[in-house]
Amino acid sequence: MGSTIIESGSDTALAAVDLHKSYGGGRGRPPVKALDGLGFTAATGSVFALLGPNGAGKSTTVKILATLSRADSGTATVAGIDVQRHPERVRRAIGFVAQRPVTDPMDTGRENLVLAGRLQGMGARDAKARAGELLDRFALTDAARRLVRGYSGGMARKLDVAMGLMHRPQVLFLDEPTTGLDPQARAEMWAEIERMARDERMTILLTTHYLEEADKLAARLAIVDHGRIVAGGSPEELKNELHGDSVVIELDTAAARPAAAVTETVVRAQEALARLGTLRDIVMDDDVLRARADNGARALPHVLAALETAGVGVVSAAVARPSLDDVYLRHTGHTFASAQAGQAVAERAGDLAEVAR
Ligand SMILES: Nc1ncnc2c1ncn2[C@@H]1O[C@H](COP(=O)(O)OP(=O)(O)OP(=O)(O)O)[C@@H](O)[C@H]1O
Ligand SMILES: [Mg+2]
Repeated sequence: MGSTIIESGSDTALAAVDLHKSYGGGRGRPPVKALDGLGFTAATGSVFALLGPNGAGKSTTVKILATLSRADSGTATVAGIDVQRHPERVRRAIGFVAQRPVTDPMDTGRENLVLAGRLQGMGARDAKARAGELLDRFALTDAARRLVRGYSGGMARKLDVAMGLMHRPQVLFLDEPTTGLDPQARAEMWAEIERMARDERMTILLTTHYLEEADKLAARLAIVDHGRIVAGGSPEELKNELHGDSVVIELDTAAARPAAAVTETVVRAQEALARLGTLRDIVMDDDVLRARADNGARALPHVLAALETAGVGVVSAAVARPSLDDVYLRHTGHTFASAQAGQAVAERAGDLAEVAR
Protein backbone atom coordinates (compact mmCIF):
# COMPACT_ATOMS: atom_id res chain seq x y z
CA MET A 1 0.00 0.00 0.00
CA GLY A 2 2.78 2.36 -0.92
CA SER A 3 0.37 4.68 -2.67
CA THR A 4 -1.77 5.71 0.31
CA ILE A 5 -1.81 9.38 1.19
CA ILE A 6 -2.59 9.98 4.83
CA GLU A 7 -3.84 13.40 5.73
CA SER A 8 -2.76 14.75 9.11
CA GLY A 9 -5.46 15.55 11.68
CA SER A 10 -8.36 13.45 12.87
CA ASP A 11 -11.19 15.29 11.12
CA THR A 12 -11.33 12.81 8.28
CA ALA A 13 -14.51 12.55 6.20
CA LEU A 14 -13.29 9.99 3.66
CA ALA A 15 -10.70 7.27 3.90
CA ALA A 16 -9.83 4.61 1.38
CA VAL A 17 -7.12 2.10 2.26
CA ASP A 18 -5.41 -0.22 -0.20
CA LEU A 19 -8.40 -0.73 -2.50
CA HIS A 20 -8.15 -3.45 -5.13
CA LYS A 21 -10.78 -4.15 -7.76
CA SER A 22 -10.69 -6.16 -10.98
CA TYR A 23 -13.42 -6.53 -13.54
CA GLY A 24 -13.65 -10.07 -14.70
CA GLY A 25 -12.29 -10.92 -18.17
CA GLY A 26 -14.04 -13.87 -19.75
CA ARG A 27 -14.28 -14.79 -23.46
CA GLY A 28 -10.52 -15.13 -23.67
CA ARG A 29 -9.86 -11.67 -22.24
CA PRO A 30 -7.79 -11.18 -19.08
CA PRO A 31 -9.48 -9.39 -16.14
CA VAL A 32 -9.10 -5.61 -16.06
CA LYS A 33 -7.34 -4.32 -12.94
CA ALA A 34 -9.30 -1.13 -12.25
CA LEU A 35 -7.84 -0.43 -8.77
CA ASP A 36 -4.42 -1.60 -7.68
CA GLY A 37 -3.88 -0.57 -4.07
CA LEU A 38 -5.47 2.86 -4.18
CA GLY A 39 -5.74 4.86 -0.96
CA PHE A 40 -6.29 8.42 0.26
CA THR A 41 -7.97 10.43 2.99
CA ALA A 42 -9.93 13.68 2.72
CA ALA A 43 -10.67 16.19 5.49
CA THR A 44 -14.19 17.19 6.51
CA GLY A 45 -15.48 20.31 4.78
CA SER A 46 -12.93 20.25 1.98
CA VAL A 47 -12.95 19.63 -1.75
CA PHE A 48 -10.79 16.64 -2.62
CA ALA A 49 -10.15 15.82 -6.28
CA LEU A 50 -9.23 12.54 -7.92
CA LEU A 51 -7.50 13.62 -11.11
CA GLY A 52 -6.74 11.09 -13.81
CA PRO A 53 -7.15 10.24 -17.48
CA ASN A 54 -9.88 7.99 -18.91
CA GLY A 55 -9.81 4.53 -17.39
CA ALA A 56 -7.60 5.53 -14.42
CA GLY A 57 -10.07 4.14 -11.87
CA LYS A 58 -11.83 7.31 -10.68
CA SER A 59 -15.44 6.15 -11.12
CA THR A 60 -14.61 2.73 -9.67
CA THR A 61 -13.27 4.43 -6.53
CA VAL A 62 -16.28 6.72 -6.19
CA LYS A 63 -18.71 3.82 -6.66
CA ILE A 64 -16.99 1.79 -3.93
CA LEU A 65 -17.12 4.74 -1.51
CA ALA A 66 -20.77 5.34 -2.40
CA THR A 67 -21.59 1.63 -1.70
CA LEU A 68 -22.60 1.01 -5.34
CA SER A 69 -19.75 -1.42 -5.90
CA ARG A 70 -17.62 -3.65 -3.65
CA ALA A 71 -13.85 -3.69 -3.56
CA ASP A 72 -12.12 -7.09 -3.91
CA SER A 73 -9.99 -6.07 -0.93
CA GLY A 74 -9.17 -3.00 1.13
CA THR A 75 -11.37 -0.84 3.32
CA ALA A 76 -13.17 2.47 3.03
CA THR A 77 -15.00 4.74 5.46
CA VAL A 78 -17.28 7.68 4.71
CA ALA A 79 -18.12 10.11 7.54
CA GLY A 80 -16.49 7.56 9.84
CA ILE A 81 -18.81 4.74 8.68
CA ASP A 82 -17.43 1.53 7.14
CA VAL A 83 -18.92 1.17 3.65
CA GLN A 84 -19.02 -2.62 3.70
CA ARG A 85 -20.42 -3.05 7.21
CA HIS A 86 -23.02 -0.26 7.19
CA PRO A 87 -23.90 0.61 3.58
CA GLU A 88 -27.37 1.88 4.58
CA ARG A 89 -25.92 4.41 7.01
CA VAL A 90 -23.38 5.53 4.41
CA ARG A 91 -26.16 6.07 1.85
CA ARG A 92 -28.00 8.38 4.22
CA ALA A 93 -24.87 10.48 4.71
CA ILE A 94 -23.95 10.93 1.06
CA GLY A 95 -25.17 12.49 -2.14
CA PHE A 96 -24.03 10.81 -5.33
CA VAL A 97 -23.89 12.47 -8.73
CA ALA A 98 -22.98 9.85 -11.31
CA GLN A 99 -20.83 10.48 -14.35
CA ARG A 100 -23.86 9.90 -16.58
CA PRO A 101 -27.20 11.60 -15.90
CA VAL A 102 -29.86 9.76 -13.95
CA THR A 103 -32.67 12.29 -14.45
CA ASP A 104 -35.83 11.24 -16.28
CA PRO A 105 -35.92 13.30 -19.51
CA MET A 106 -39.70 12.92 -19.77
CA ASP A 107 -40.31 14.50 -16.37
CA THR A 108 -39.99 18.15 -15.37
CA GLY A 109 -37.04 19.42 -13.38
CA ARG A 110 -39.18 19.88 -10.29
CA GLU A 111 -40.72 16.38 -10.52
CA ASN A 112 -37.26 14.82 -10.86
CA LEU A 113 -36.13 16.56 -7.67
CA VAL A 114 -39.20 15.67 -5.66
CA LEU A 115 -38.93 12.03 -6.74
CA ALA A 116 -35.24 11.93 -5.73
CA GLY A 117 -36.16 13.33 -2.31
CA ARG A 118 -39.01 10.83 -1.83
CA LEU A 119 -36.67 7.96 -2.76
CA GLN A 120 -34.34 9.22 -0.04
CA GLY A 121 -37.18 8.93 2.46
CA MET A 122 -38.25 12.59 2.61
CA GLY A 123 -41.91 13.46 3.26
CA ALA A 124 -43.87 15.00 0.33
CA ARG A 125 -44.04 18.49 1.82
CA ASP A 126 -40.39 18.56 2.82
CA ALA A 127 -39.34 17.26 -0.63
CA LYS A 128 -41.36 19.98 -2.41
CA ALA A 129 -39.94 22.73 -0.24
CA ARG A 130 -36.39 21.48 -0.68
CA ALA A 131 -36.88 21.14 -4.47
CA GLY A 132 -38.01 24.79 -4.62
CA GLU A 133 -34.96 25.86 -2.62
CA LEU A 134 -32.53 23.99 -4.89
CA LEU A 135 -34.22 25.15 -8.11
CA ASP A 136 -33.68 28.70 -6.88
CA ARG A 137 -30.10 28.12 -5.89
CA PHE A 138 -29.20 26.59 -9.27
CA ALA A 139 -31.12 29.27 -11.22
CA LEU A 140 -33.52 26.64 -12.58
CA THR A 141 -36.79 28.06 -11.23
CA ASP A 142 -37.90 29.38 -14.63
CA ALA A 143 -37.28 25.96 -16.19
CA ALA A 144 -38.76 23.98 -13.28
CA ARG A 145 -41.97 23.08 -15.14
CA ARG A 146 -40.24 22.13 -18.39
CA LEU A 147 -39.37 18.56 -19.41
CA VAL A 148 -35.70 17.82 -18.73
CA ARG A 149 -35.16 16.61 -22.32
CA GLY A 150 -35.36 20.28 -23.39
CA TYR A 151 -32.64 21.41 -20.94
CA SER A 152 -29.20 22.55 -22.11
CA GLY A 153 -26.18 20.48 -21.04
CA GLY A 154 -25.37 22.94 -18.25
CA MET A 155 -28.95 23.00 -16.93
CA ALA A 156 -29.19 19.21 -16.97
CA ARG A 157 -25.92 18.87 -15.06
CA LYS A 158 -27.03 21.40 -12.45
CA LEU A 159 -30.22 19.37 -11.99
CA ASP A 160 -28.12 16.20 -11.51
CA VAL A 161 -26.19 17.93 -8.73
CA ALA A 162 -29.37 19.29 -7.15
CA MET A 163 -30.78 15.73 -7.05
CA GLY A 164 -27.73 14.61 -5.11
CA LEU A 165 -28.31 17.42 -2.60
CA MET A 166 -32.03 16.85 -1.88
CA HIS A 167 -31.57 15.07 1.47
CA ARG A 168 -28.85 17.48 2.69
CA PRO A 169 -25.92 15.04 2.63
CA GLN A 170 -22.73 15.64 4.64
CA VAL A 171 -20.58 14.23 1.85
CA LEU A 172 -21.15 14.79 -1.86
CA PHE A 173 -19.61 12.67 -4.63
CA LEU A 174 -19.38 14.42 -7.98
CA ASP A 175 -18.13 12.15 -10.76
CA GLU A 176 -16.90 14.46 -13.51
CA PRO A 177 -19.41 17.25 -12.87
CA THR A 178 -18.26 19.46 -15.73
CA THR A 179 -17.22 17.12 -18.53
CA GLY A 180 -18.71 18.34 -21.80
CA LEU A 181 -19.98 21.66 -20.41
CA ASP A 182 -19.29 24.95 -22.14
CA PRO A 183 -16.95 27.38 -20.34
CA GLN A 184 -19.75 29.46 -18.83
CA ALA A 185 -21.66 26.47 -17.47
CA ARG A 186 -18.38 25.12 -16.11
CA ALA A 187 -17.64 28.41 -14.33
CA GLU A 188 -21.11 28.38 -12.75
CA MET A 189 -20.65 24.83 -11.54
CA TRP A 190 -17.23 25.69 -10.10
CA ALA A 191 -18.71 28.65 -8.20
CA GLU A 192 -21.43 26.45 -6.70
CA ILE A 193 -18.96 23.73 -5.67
CA GLU A 194 -16.78 26.34 -3.96
CA ARG A 195 -19.79 27.83 -2.23
CA MET A 196 -21.02 24.47 -0.87
CA ALA A 197 -17.65 23.57 0.59
CA ARG A 198 -17.16 27.04 2.08
CA ASP A 199 -20.62 27.94 3.39
CA GLU A 200 -22.04 24.52 4.23
CA ARG A 201 -18.84 22.77 5.26
CA MET A 202 -19.74 19.95 2.96
CA THR A 203 -17.07 17.42 2.06
CA ILE A 204 -16.92 17.06 -1.70
CA LEU A 205 -15.11 14.32 -3.57
CA LEU A 206 -14.77 15.35 -7.16
CA THR A 207 -13.33 13.39 -10.04
CA THR A 208 -12.04 15.16 -13.10
CA HIS A 209 -9.73 14.89 -16.05
CA TYR A 210 -9.35 18.64 -16.27
CA LEU A 211 -6.07 19.70 -14.68
CA GLU A 212 -7.29 23.26 -14.29
CA GLU A 213 -10.45 22.11 -12.49
CA ALA A 214 -8.47 20.23 -9.83
CA ASP A 215 -6.06 23.16 -9.58
CA LYS A 216 -8.87 25.66 -9.02
CA LEU A 217 -11.23 23.74 -6.74
CA ALA A 218 -9.33 21.17 -4.72
CA ALA A 219 -7.80 21.87 -1.33
CA ARG A 220 -6.02 18.57 -1.90
CA LEU A 221 -5.90 16.24 -4.84
CA ALA A 222 -4.61 12.82 -5.76
CA ILE A 223 -3.37 11.94 -9.21
CA VAL A 224 -4.70 8.52 -10.23
CA ASP A 225 -2.92 6.46 -12.85
CA HIS A 226 -3.68 2.79 -13.60
CA GLY A 227 -5.64 2.29 -10.39
CA ARG A 228 -3.00 3.73 -8.09
CA ILE A 229 -2.33 7.11 -6.61
CA VAL A 230 0.97 8.37 -7.92
CA ALA A 231 1.06 11.75 -6.16
CA GLY A 232 -1.04 13.70 -3.70
CA GLY A 233 -1.18 16.98 -1.82
CA SER A 234 -2.43 20.50 -2.35
CA PRO A 235 -2.00 21.84 -5.90
CA GLU A 236 0.65 24.26 -4.60
CA GLU A 237 2.59 21.56 -2.73
CA LEU A 238 2.62 19.34 -5.79
CA LYS A 239 3.83 22.13 -8.05
CA ASN A 240 6.43 23.32 -5.54
CA GLU A 241 7.95 19.84 -5.41
CA LEU A 242 9.08 20.49 -8.95
CA HIS A 243 11.95 22.86 -8.48
CA GLY A 244 12.67 25.36 -11.22
CA ASP A 245 10.84 25.89 -14.49
CA SER A 246 9.48 23.70 -17.23
CA VAL A 247 11.01 24.10 -20.68
CA VAL A 248 9.06 22.96 -23.74
CA ILE A 249 10.70 22.89 -27.18
CA GLU A 250 9.00 21.85 -30.38
CA LEU A 251 11.63 20.43 -32.71
CA ASP A 252 11.45 21.02 -36.44
CA THR A 253 11.16 17.54 -37.90
CA ALA A 254 9.16 18.55 -40.99
CA ALA A 255 12.23 18.37 -43.24
CA ALA A 256 13.29 15.06 -41.71
CA ARG A 257 10.86 12.54 -43.16
CA PRO A 258 10.72 9.47 -43.22
CA ALA A 259 10.33 8.23 -39.65
CA ALA A 260 13.95 7.04 -39.32
CA ALA A 261 15.21 10.58 -40.04
CA VAL A 262 12.79 12.00 -37.44
CA THR A 263 14.11 9.57 -34.84
CA GLU A 264 17.65 10.54 -35.76
CA THR A 265 16.84 14.27 -35.30
CA VAL A 266 15.32 13.58 -31.89
CA VAL A 267 18.33 11.52 -30.79
CA ARG A 268 20.71 14.26 -31.94
CA ALA A 269 18.72 16.83 -29.94
CA GLN A 270 18.76 14.67 -26.81
CA GLU A 271 22.49 14.04 -27.10
CA ALA A 272 23.23 17.73 -27.57
CA LEU A 273 21.20 18.66 -24.50
CA ALA A 274 22.70 15.87 -22.39
CA ARG A 275 26.14 17.31 -23.21
CA LEU A 276 24.99 20.81 -22.28
CA GLY A 277 23.80 19.57 -18.87
CA THR A 278 21.50 22.47 -17.89
CA LEU A 279 18.24 20.58 -18.51
CA ARG A 280 17.04 17.60 -16.50
CA ASP A 281 14.12 15.13 -16.68
CA ILE A 282 14.13 15.33 -20.47
CA VAL A 283 11.11 13.57 -22.00
CA MET A 284 10.17 13.41 -25.69
CA ASP A 285 6.51 13.41 -26.68
CA ASP A 286 6.53 12.98 -30.49
CA ASP A 287 8.64 15.94 -31.62
CA VAL A 288 8.00 17.98 -28.45
CA LEU A 289 10.78 17.96 -25.89
CA ARG A 290 9.86 18.65 -22.25
CA ALA A 291 12.43 19.20 -19.53
CA ARG A 292 13.12 21.07 -16.33
CA ALA A 293 15.71 23.77 -15.59
CA ASP A 294 16.68 25.65 -12.42
CA ASN A 295 16.31 28.92 -14.29
CA GLY A 296 14.49 28.41 -17.57
CA ALA A 297 14.97 31.93 -18.95
CA ARG A 298 18.73 31.76 -18.39
CA ALA A 299 19.01 28.24 -19.80
CA LEU A 300 17.01 28.81 -22.97
CA PRO A 301 19.58 30.72 -25.10
CA HIS A 302 22.20 28.04 -24.37
CA VAL A 303 19.73 25.28 -25.19
CA LEU A 304 18.82 26.89 -28.52
CA ALA A 305 22.48 27.43 -29.39
CA ALA A 306 23.30 23.79 -28.59
CA LEU A 307 20.46 22.58 -30.80
CA GLU A 308 21.57 24.83 -33.64
CA THR A 309 25.13 23.53 -33.40
CA ALA A 310 23.74 20.00 -33.56
CA GLY A 311 21.81 20.94 -36.71
CA VAL A 312 18.37 20.58 -35.11
CA GLY A 313 15.77 23.20 -36.05
CA VAL A 314 13.28 24.56 -33.53
CA VAL A 315 9.65 25.54 -34.25
CA SER A 316 8.88 27.01 -30.83
CA ALA A 317 10.35 27.22 -27.34
CA ALA A 318 8.67 28.18 -24.07
CA VAL A 319 9.54 28.50 -20.39
CA ALA A 320 6.83 28.28 -17.72
CA ARG A 321 6.30 27.85 -14.00
CA PRO A 322 5.36 24.26 -13.12
CA SER A 323 1.76 23.25 -13.82
CA LEU A 324 -0.18 20.18 -12.71
CA ASP A 325 0.59 18.81 -16.17
CA ASP A 326 4.27 18.88 -15.21
CA VAL A 327 3.43 17.18 -11.90
CA TYR A 328 1.63 14.45 -13.81
CA LEU A 329 4.50 14.03 -16.26
CA ARG A 330 7.01 13.83 -13.42
CA HIS A 331 5.13 11.08 -11.59
CA THR A 332 3.95 8.97 -14.53
CA GLY A 333 6.59 9.58 -17.19
CA HIS A 334 3.98 10.63 -19.76
CA THR A 335 1.88 13.71 -20.42
CA PHE A 336 -1.75 13.89 -19.41
CA ALA A 337 -2.83 14.43 -23.03
CA SER A 338 -0.94 11.35 -24.24
CA ALA A 339 -2.53 9.23 -21.47
CA GLN A 340 -5.98 10.39 -22.59
CA ALA A 341 -5.18 9.63 -26.23
CA GLY A 342 -3.62 6.25 -25.32
CA GLN A 343 -6.72 5.18 -23.41
CA ALA A 344 -8.96 6.23 -26.30
CA VAL A 345 -6.86 4.10 -28.69
CA ALA A 346 -6.94 1.12 -26.27
CA GLU A 347 -10.72 1.38 -25.95
CA ARG A 348 -11.18 1.56 -29.71
CA ALA A 349 -8.90 -1.48 -30.12
CA GLY A 350 -11.01 -3.30 -27.48
CA ASP A 351 -14.20 -2.40 -29.35
CA LEU A 352 -12.75 -3.60 -32.64
CA ALA A 353 -11.65 -6.89 -31.04
CA GLU A 354 -15.19 -7.27 -29.70
CA VAL A 355 -16.66 -6.61 -33.17
CA ALA A 356 -14.24 -9.09 -34.77
CA ARG A 357 -15.41 -11.93 -32.49
N1 LIG B 1 -18.33 -2.59 -15.23
C1 LIG B 1 -17.13 -2.75 -15.77
N2 LIG B 1 -16.79 -3.87 -16.43
C2 LIG B 1 -15.57 -4.05 -16.97
N3 LIG B 1 -14.58 -3.14 -16.89
C3 LIG B 1 -14.84 -1.99 -16.25
C4 LIG B 1 -16.12 -1.72 -15.66
N4 LIG B 1 -16.07 -0.49 -15.10
C5 LIG B 1 -14.83 -0.01 -15.33
N5 LIG B 1 -14.08 -0.91 -16.02
C6 LIG B 1 -12.67 -0.74 -16.42
O1 LIG B 1 -11.93 -0.40 -15.25
C7 LIG B 1 -10.97 0.61 -15.54
C8 LIG B 1 -11.24 1.82 -14.68
O2 LIG B 1 -12.50 2.38 -15.05
P1 LIG B 1 -13.15 3.65 -14.37
O3 LIG B 1 -14.50 3.80 -14.98
O4 LIG B 1 -13.04 3.54 -12.91
O5 LIG B 1 -12.18 4.79 -14.88
P2 LIG B 1 -12.36 6.37 -14.83
O6 LIG B 1 -11.09 6.90 -14.25
O7 LIG B 1 -13.63 6.73 -14.19
O8 LIG B 1 -12.39 6.76 -16.38
P3 LIG B 1 -13.26 7.91 -17.15
O9 LIG B 1 -12.48 9.17 -17.03
O10 LIG B 1 -13.27 7.41 -18.57
O11 LIG B 1 -14.61 7.96 -16.55
C9 LIG B 1 -11.07 0.88 -17.03
O12 LIG B 1 -10.10 0.08 -17.69
C10 LIG B 1 -12.47 0.43 -17.38
O13 LIG B 1 -12.55 0.02 -18.73
MG1 LIG C 1 -15.29 7.69 -14.78
